[in-house]
Amino acid sequence: MALTVVFLGPPGAGKGTQAEKLQKEYGFYHISTGDILREAVSKGTELGKVAKKYMDEGKLLPDEIIVGIIEEKLKELGNANVILDGFPRTVGQAEALDKLLNKLGRNLDAVILFEISDSEVIRRLSGRRVDPKTGKIYHVEFNPPPEGTEVIQRDDDKEDVIKKRLQVYHSQTSPLVEYYKKKNKLFVVDASKSPEDVYKDILSVLKL
Ligand code: AP5
Repeated sequence: MALTVVFLGPPGAGKGTQAEKLQKEYGFYHISTGDILREAVSKGTELGKVAKKYMDEGKLLPDEIIVGIIEEKLKELGNANVILDGFPRTVGQAEALDKLLNKLGRNLDAVILFEISDSEVIRRLSGRRVDPKTGKIYHVEFNPPPEGTEVIQRDDDKEDVIKKRLQVYHSQTSPLVEYYKKKNKLFVVDASKSPEDVYKDILSVLKL
């Protein structure tokens, strides 16, 4: 049966970095709600116009909008192995995901919690740069882009917005740790390690 894995953790914990590796090496389909919303913003769609207001303030979009996006994506992907990166982020979204997976005949295999301190998050996000053409993620200090690569800084990677995103994570998303612990789905990885070591820990959780 197709694998369904959730990446849970604060902004900047390295979820996108690890999802990129699993996609490349194991063919997982990487569903990042943040990437979907950023694409909508850059195309100027109706969704993008709504999303931009929330994202620039570091706030979450309403559950109904996000759940609709995920439902459409999962239906479109059929039987592929998927990583849900950045979804669910509220208890309401987690409950909606349970119902949706049930409807689609999918199991939730693992929720991987990326554990990391707020101070490390701020260090990582203030140095993050992205190649807008490929979506590849870099860091000015830990993983600098190759010379000649044009990179940009995300609008929500400014220090005041990063702090707001962290507050939102602690108040609205961290209750999911208990939610998934009770369901015996939660696996914790120490996200402060090097990207290679975090990757090894994830492979061992997924028995890959
Ligand atoms: P989203 O894009 O999901 O942002 P996020 O969860 O805040 O996560 P990030 O993408 O910031 O971090 P990451 O964990 O992927 O870290 P990365 O690998 O890049 O969401 C953005 C916004 O969209 C939200 O604020 C909200 O408005 C909206 N939204 C999205 N989903 C939603 C939902 N479900 N409901 C409602 N609203 C939603 O790594 C970070 C940096 O660290 C990089 O520079 C990287 O190179 C570096 N790095 C990574 N790993 C390591 C390592 N091991 N050691 C050293 N450096 C590392």
